[in-house]
Amino acid sequence: MRTVYVNGDYLPEDEARISVFDRGFLFADGVYEVTSVLDGKLVDFPGHAARLQRSMDELAMEAEIDMDDLLEIHRELIRRNDLTEGLIYLQVTRGAADRDFLYPASETPPTIVLFTQSKPGLAESPMAKTGMKIVTIPDRRWGRRDIKTVQLLYPSMGKMEAKRAGADDAWMVEDGHVTEGTSNNAYIVKDGVIVTRHLGEEILHGITRKAVLAFAREAQMKVEERPFTVEEALAADEAFVTSASSFVMPVVEIDGQTIGAGTPGATVARLREIYLDEMRKAAI
Ligand code: PDD
Repeated sequence: MRTVYVNGDYLPEDEARISVFDRGFLFADGVYEVTSVLDGKLVDFPGHAARLQRSMDELAMEAEIDMDDLLEIHRELIRRNDLTEGLIYLQVTRGAADRDFLYPASETPPTIVLFTQSKPGLAESPMAKTGMKIVTIPDRRWGRRDIKTVQLLYPSMGKMEAKRAGADDAWMVEDGHVTEGTSNNAYIVKDGVIVTRHLGEEILHGITRKAVLAFAREAQMKVEERPFTVEEALAADEAFVTSASSFVMPVVEIDGQTIGAGTPGATVARLREIYLDEMRKAAI
């Protein structure tokens, strides 16, 4: 049984409790982060900590969270759960208060929950060799997708739709342009140029995206941060996604149409290798 963290306590998972009045439960008034663990170490913790603070600031969540304490909690969970490869999920909500649309008093303590998910073989995923199949769906999420809130019903519906269609995931489309995947950022490669949507309120500012684009530029690859259409994606040489849980993952089919040779391309293979090598070295 896992040991999880709830508001200062480390508890067996079946003893952990939060209030029925928690605003995360009632209003999806909470933010989260998912950090990967390789070799028992955290991948890009500073990036996730910075984005957590940004999400909280954007929602005027005033709770003070000390990022050194948060790092220690992540490490303690790795130790207590003997985690070598997997994920740590962190959620912070505006806390428990009688149900009211208005925010509760700023002294209301936040709810802080963390748990581990062991995923042996995360880095050696078979899908990195075969590639993923994607379907496109309309992007019906709210307008502040740059804030990492726990309102994940639409992405969850999108994954189910992909599954029903025999695919692995969905890319969301707005005004003819791909925004991002249900839980990852989306990219295409055409004539050696990597194209991914620019940052804005329409997509989550992926921590993996930031690192991968920096590595790509260091390796003298060309990068364009701009919207791309579904038609461009279908005509691309390669396609891929990035996230903390998939790192860099090739896409070989979109809406039933084969991308490139129908097998993972050279650019994505190289980016995955560089990313994993560098992030293992930098993990803390
Ligand atoms: N999802 N876009 C969306 C909508 C996401 O939910 C995620 C992450 C990303 C990639 O961000 P990052 O590289 O920081 O993981 C992009 C996490 C992994 C999840 O919900 O499980």
